[in-house]
Amino acid sequence: MTELLVIGGGLLGRAVAKASRESFRTALTYNSHPLQMEGCATYPMDITGRVDLIRSLKPEYIVLTAAMTNVDGCEEDRQGAWKANALGPKNVASAAKDLGSKLIYVSTDYVFDGERGMYREDDQTSPINYYGESKLAAEGFVREICQDSLIARTSVLYGWNPAKQNFVTWAMEEMKKGNRINIVNDQFTSPTLSSNLADMILAIKDQTGVFHTCGSERINRYDFSIKIAKAFCLDESLINPITSNHLSWKARRPMDSSLDTSKVSRFTKPLNVEEGLNAMIMQGMVAE
Ligand SMILES: NC(=O)c1ccc[n+]([C@@H]2O[C@H](COP(=O)([O-])OP(=O)(O)OC[C@H]3O[C@@H](n4cnc5c(N)ncnc54)[C@H](OP(=O)(O)O)[C@@H]3O)[C@@H](O)[C@H]2O)c1
Repeated sequence: MTELLVIGGGLLGRAVAKASRESFRTALTYNSHPLQMEGCATYPMDITGRVDLIRSLKPEYIVLTAAMTNVDGCEEDRQGAWKANALGPKNVASAAKDLGSKLIYVSTDYVFDGERGMYREDDQTSPINYYGESKLAAEGFVREICQDSLIARTSVLYGWNPAKQNFVTWAMEEMKKGNRINIVNDQFTSPTLSSNLADMILAIKDQTGVFHTCGSERINRYDFSIKIAKAFCLDESLINPITSNHLSWKARRPMDSSLDTSKVSRFTKPLNVEEGLNAMIMQGMVAE
């Protein structure tokens, strides 16, 4: 069996490992939060340090999901963000090149400034926060070092993850408690179910270049949370629409970083919001 190495045991890393373990001998790495997963070997690895594990496993495919994903945290700790989000991927790319492994690097919609939305793969990038800058730098390193690499840009990930909340699980939790939530109605993205992204990555793993791999629907956060309330039978009157000038984030957010998914749709099906939330409900009914 082919060896597939998933780097990063967060929401997406776990979903990719789960999706690949039937067809591949799969290994999954974690950093500061040890984890175990049936059907996968798990190992600790910090991508900013020595990556001897990659050299010893000699995987045919490497899916690099690890990153410092806290957007405000990246603004506050630029050095840490550069190390984890730019130098780490450079390090992994060098090992992939030496071994001839296929590198799939997961990037972000935040490489765009959000002035226009529905970005295509060859549109001009222009990040407006340090998270986006550091991820864009990584794209450059990956492309330069591994010419046959695949860069999969995604947007607002959601799904079940016992280790950490995401927008959907947070909004659900608050509404279940009967808490009112203020949600912006002027920021648009392309929300992506983690398992759908995992399937898309596996479907295009032998392609090269940039792909926009996210949900197929452009939606603002407020409308997204209304759909969450409807899907999970929660009280949508608890959701209060606000505009983003009422929030004071450390890092600027693009107003419309939605992505066009026509290219990936030639290979596999990105889900819209309703389909993604329904799939999440089905997954919740199956024991983890
Ligand atoms: N989440 C989103 O909405 C979103 C949107 C667009 C793009 N993306 C991209 O999608 C990818 C996956 O996101 P996610 O939501 O699955 O992230 P996540 O749940 O925050 O997981 C990120 C993982 O990276 C690991 N990590 C951080 N620094 C590391 C290092 N130096 N060495 C090794 N591992 C390290 C973390 O491990 P520890 O916690 O153990 O340190 C964590 O398990 C990321 O590349 C992200 O930039 C995410």
